[in-house]
Amino acid sequence: MTRHVLDRTSQVRDVYRSLINSGRTYAAFRDEDIEFVQKLSGRGPILDPMSGYGRTAEFCDQLGVPSYSVEINPPQFLWQLLVQRSNTTFFSAFLELIQRTRRRWPRPHTVAVASDTFFSAECSQFITRLLALLVALSESFDDIPFSGHRPYAPLAVLIPFLGRLMCASPGNVSAHIRRGGTCVFSGWQEDFVTYLTCLLTRIQHRHQVSDIGPESQELVLGDARTINLGRRRFKAMLTSPPYPNQRDFRAILRPENEFIQQLVLAGQLPMSFSQPDSIGSVKVKGKAPAIPHSTVARNFLKRIVGLRKAKRATYDDDVYYLPYFQNYFSDLERAYSNIQKYAARDFSGYIIVVNNTHRGVVIPVADFIRDIWQTMGYHAEVARTIELSHVGAKNPRARGIRASHTEYVIHVCRRKH
Ligand SMILES: C[S@@+](CC[C@H](N)C(=O)[O-])C[C@H]1O[C@@H](n2cnc3c(N)ncnc32)[C@H](O)[C@@H]1O
Repeated sequence: MTRHVLDRTSQVRDVYRSLINSGRTYAAFRDEDIEFVQKLSGRGPILDPMSGYGRTAEFCDQLGVPSYSVEINPPQFLWQLLVQRSNTTFFSAFLELIQRTRRRWPRPHTVAVASDTFFSAECSQFITRLLALLVALSESFDDIPFSGHRPYAPLAVLIPFLGRLMCASPGNVSAHIRRGGTCVFSGWQEDFVTYLTCLLTRIQHRHQVSDIGPESQELVLGDARTINLGRRRFKAMLTSPPYPNQRDFRAILRPENEFIQQLVLAGQLPMSFSQPDSIGSVKVKGKAPAIPHSTVARNFLKRIVGLRKAKRATYDDDVYYLPYFQNYFSDLERAYSNIQKYAARDFSGYIIVVNNTHRGVVIPVADFIRDIWQTMGYHAEVARTIELSHVGAKNPRARGIRASHTEYVIHVCRRKH
């Protein structure tokens, strides 16, 4: 099969270009992490309560292991629907039909538009017309099974392409984007063709997959802090929390979320979008910071308060960083405490996490996670550490401790009595 690559000129956002071209992006599991699914196979469905772009399900699919994934962020949830193996037949047929019906694609009323919002009136109107066409085309496939809610299918195809049809400017790192800029409509059709072709290649690209029933990879849009999994009990978990490095997944995908929210508010999309901010949200203003229970978290916070620092740094810590860390730690405590209710007696799980630094102090996320699970009555030990340099660093010139990011794999299991 010819390999199609979506390049920068397509104006598809970097995060989606990288998902389409390579199957992963910032903070997603690396290919080697499949070894944890191997270790957990034979234990029934593997739970991933913060499943991101869905690599746990992908690994499980490759190895014939069932999975159960939860994700709070709608654009990431939609990406997972798009690449789920059970939806390959549906999306292959759908993407091919979209390409064949080019005559029906909407024509923009203007060549270009500049705006200080992501979606100027012209952009919104144009995207709405394109979405209406996708909805109409998707109705031709009522006979092809689809895992998930059907109204999500056209949106799942449109969302990664939104970057091409909105007014935005690049942020200081590629995951970030700034509101406002220009959108040049002319030539959008060629970019859409390239996008559809590359996306088709991605969803049809499969490693050797085993024969497990497609319904075995379950996916829900939900909040790990509050989700109710009823009587389900899991014997296995592979997961990775957001890291406290100001990379908020909702914010990375802000325009996509704004667009989805507009559809929900207009009653055009039956999706529950009322969830609170995700864990690691950069929004602290107006929120009463919660106090974490973990001693590791509290000691870290005390250490930051006690650091000798300039007036400006003290102000920034008081107003932003300390509440941010407090929320982060408390939210993660809430999530794991909720999730562990669904752990079977012989539960075994792996949590992959990267420690960052703040003002030269290591943010002890790995120790904190061990502390939470141990306090809940589990064994929680570091199974492996890897030194990663600069990965995720905002400042590529960072040296020493600021440049060092250690990845920890924490193994969690029930304590034997
Ligand atoms: C490090 S990423 C996981 C990446 C994933 N392992 C992969 O390979 O794609 C953490 C994920 O947790 C999600 N998340 C944050 N808060 C959450 C919550 N309360 N419930 C469920 N998911 C949440 C984020 O949206 C993000 O996608």
